[in-house]
Amino acid sequence: MIYLDANATTPLLPEVLEAMMPWLTGGFHNPNASYRGAKAARQAIDTAREQVAALIGAQPDEIVFTSGGTESTNTALKWLARLVGRKSGRAITSAIEHSAVLKPCETFEEVGYRLDRIGVNSLGRLDLDALRAACASAKDGGGFASIMWANNETGVIQPLAEACAIAKEHGLAFHTDAIQAVGKIPVDVRETPVDFLSLSAHKFHGPKGVGALYVRSGCRFEPLLRGGGQESGRRSGTENTAGIVGFGKAAELAKQLLDSGDQSIRTMRDAFEAKLLETITGCEINGDPDHRLPGTSHVSFERCEAAGLLILLDDMGIACSAGSACMTGKQQPSHVQKAMGFNDAKAKSSLRLGFSRLNTLEEAMQAAEAVLKAVEKLRRVQGSGVGPVTVYTP
Ligand SMILES: Cc1ncc(COP(=O)(O)O)c(C=O)c1O
Repeated sequence: MIYLDANATTPLLPEVLEAMMPWLTGGFHNPNASYRGAKAARQAIDTAREQVAALIGAQPDEIVFTSGGTESTNTALKWLARLVGRKSGRAITSAIEHSAVLKPCETFEEVGYRLDRIGVNSLGRLDLDALRAACASAKDGGGFASIMWANNETGVIQPLAEACAIAKEHGLAFHTDAIQAVGKIPVDVRETPVDFLSLSAHKFHGPKGVGALYVRSGCRFEPLLRGGGQESGRRSGTENTAGIVGFGKAAELAKQLLDSGDQSIRTMRDAFEAKLLETITGCEINGDPDHRLPGTSHVSFERCEAAGLLILLDDMGIACSAGSACMTGKQQPSHVQKAMGFNDAKAKSSLRLGFSRLNTLEEAMQAAEAVLKAVEKLRRVQGSGVGPVTVYTP
């Protein structure tokens, strides 16, 4: 199988598994206890905190470990909503956020906050003028903004530094969902002074079920989960030592690759897209070509439904997605595609492929070949007047 769904999740790197193993076996002790085994676990968590902090240019004590990206975003947003209060409260986000941001924001709207969903252009980039207008009309800093760093469906990288500066100019606290960006492109909280940033290990070859919230030193913060007071009182619950150690190792390896300037993921993705454009008529690459994650390809094919393509590709041993993982199997345009102004036909004919460091150029070429075959086959079937979904759904 050729796995090309790295935006959904990534496999563990062998080094990550190796780093985790001792903590899944003999090193099981509770890191909060006082004997030697426990102290070793505590030390391993501290090392991981340094590794994760280094990946985003943070201080180790600005990192709060969580159970993953969703917990991180919920923790930040629920705190910010409490901080600004519902009376004059204003939540400003974008129309293309992941549901881990949109859903909590909708609950604020239900209880009286004003929620702004800032739009994007047809290439998927945030409308900064609309953001500026929304921030300017939030009275006396009575609001917060949350804008994603890179989109999970299209891979489009947002103008984060500008968005953060606009929120700050108007006295608004700023959170970013950087879950798709961290580990794939340089993310540095010294250069982009966000207050809160969410990240997740499994998007860059760490384990699932572990993530972190970056909380800028000096920012007021109260936890979502209260209990035993772990993570310096900022997130209670016995630490997932093995998961955190794997997260740290994955962060270290991601930083090494980024620092080396290696371009092989981008090369694979570009070669894949070049082959599609050369061989398939009515094929279009979506998203801002100058601001995309190096491993993401979001592509649509005229007269070809993604639902049928996915089944054919799966049969040929290619694992990828339609639009986003959450939308797979559903015959509806995603909110991201709608925000970019896709018509229904284009939205339904889009695939998302995610390349990672574990793919090869050869796999990218085989995948392009498979996509060509699948598109040709589906167009033949559709040309015959038989609906592809009816034909291929098992
Ligand atoms: C942009 C974005 N935000 C949030 C999440 C949720 O992260 P997790 O799966 O770690 O809870 C994801 C994962 O798909 C994502 O892509």
